[in-house]
Amino acid sequence: MKIRTITQVALMTAILIILGLIPGIPLGFIPVPIVLQNLGVMLAGALLGSKRGTLAVLMLLILVALGCPFLTGGRGGIAVFIGPSGGYLLSFLLCPLIMGQALKMFSNKKMFVDFIIIWIVGVVFVNICGALGLAFLGEMPLPKAFLSVLVFIPGDTIKSIAALFIFEKLRANTAFKSNI
Ligand code: BTN
Repeated sequence: MKIRTITQVALMTAILIILGLIPGIPLGFIPVPIVLQNLGVMLAGALLGSKRGTLAVLMLLILVALGCPFLTGGRGGIAVFIGPSGGYLLSFLLCPLIMGQALKMFSNKKMFVDFIIIWIVGVVFVNICGALGLAFLGEMPLPKAFLSVLVFIPGDTIKSIAALFIFEKLRANTAFKSNI
């Protein structure tokens, strides 16, 4: 693996950790807060692509599993993966994998196409996984879980637009070109 790839992955992991330092907004009716860390997950997939983006998120999740308090609210440890937000954490890992691949296959430099990909993977897919996690790990009835995660859609859509603009601005930058 090239030095540049290691640097890109380490920097993205650092961005994910920094976004996790920003306190979440708890919602009384659902045991998952509004966070900013998922913006970093979208950026990992869009900017670094599937391999390097997934590696960056994997690094974060390994550190979390080892007990580092790098999730929003200073949480860490193996238990978070089987808690109510376990589905979201799994989606964090899959999101860059799918988004990077989809952008590689379908992006034609049209902003609208990129937005659709980032939104479907970074918002719709992530929240479907989150709802399934809430139902099966958080023991919430499935229909209630799907209804509850709708609360995240407006905010996550704004984050996906932010990710889109950052992606469009930086995509030509050689610093983000793959060198794996
Ligand atoms: C964790 O820290 O355990 C994961 C939190 C996941 C929060 C999810 S990400 C998608 C949705 N949008 C938010 O703002 N919060 C949820």
